[in-house]
Amino acid sequence: MKKQLLNFVTVLCVCIPIFFSISFAAEDQKPPNTENIDRQVQQFLDSHRWSWRDANVPEVDGKALHDIILQHGYKNALEIGTSTGHSTIWIAWALSKTGGKLITIEIDEYKRDQALAHFKEAGVADYIDSRLADAHELVPKLEGPFDFVFCDADKDWYKNYLEAVEPKLSVGGCFAAHNVTEVGNIGGGGERGRGGFRVGFGRGFGGGGGYWVSDFLEYVRSFSNLETKIQELQGSNGLCVSYKKAEK
Ligand SMILES: C[S@@+](CC[C@H](N)C(=O)[O-])C[C@H]1O[C@@H](n2cnc3c(N)ncnc32)[C@H](O)[C@@H]1O
Repeated sequence: MKKQLLNFVTVLCVCIPIFFSISFAAEDQKPPNTENIDRQVQQFLDSHRWSWRDANVPEVDGKALHDIILQHGYKNALEIGTSTGHSTIWIAWALSKTGGKLITIEIDEYKRDQALAHFKEAGVADYIDSRLADAHELVPKLEGPFDFVFCDADKDWYKNYLEAVEPKLSVGGCFAAHNVTEVGNIGGGGERGRGGFRVGFGRGFGGGGGYWVSDFLEYVRSFSNLETKIQELQGSNGLCVSYKKAEK
């Protein structure tokens, strides 16, 4: 009887910690409850729908970025070209659901300050590490790895951004480039922040197309380990999406 009692106590001592460690682990794996964030972001996006004026992405492209991140469960994101933060908010919203985080880079202090205010108002500031920097210098220095990169800064530097970031992109990850359409390759497409240069956009400020497009597309398609397609969405400014299938 004494032995049986001892066995019973031993079993309890082993099982109880196992039970609690399993239930805490299950708790950790639960998707975060993002109901409040969803409500706050949605309210923010609704109230700012018509007020984006700083070469920000159209809503359809913001939503596409959000959906790509959710669909693949991406967690380590990089954005090059924050402006006042429209795309950043869509990306951060998705990351709030995957448990991820975003580094976003902007060279223009005035725009970056507005972006910071927007992140707070939208309730996504905790998911964003905003850097005031020249992406030409910062991007090559970032460690990575990244599983999602959104490229939306000075167009004539896209090739350099891709070259710097591809080795830091994890297999399965995505490099998305904005303002890329294969039609209307006229005019320029560069843009740099205050004190820098701003080359004309061939199809309207922030619109797709530019002499750099065919150059960039040829370059991105030369990567045999990237599967590249252009998202054809109504109202889109042209989103070129490349998935990394293998290391180079
Ligand atoms: C098309 S806007 C970005 C729009 C933003 N993604 C959005 O949807 O709200 C491009 C931004 O890139 C910034 N930019 C241009 N050259 C840059 C550089 N070398 N480093 C960092 N930011 C740069 C510009 O100041 C501008 O705000």
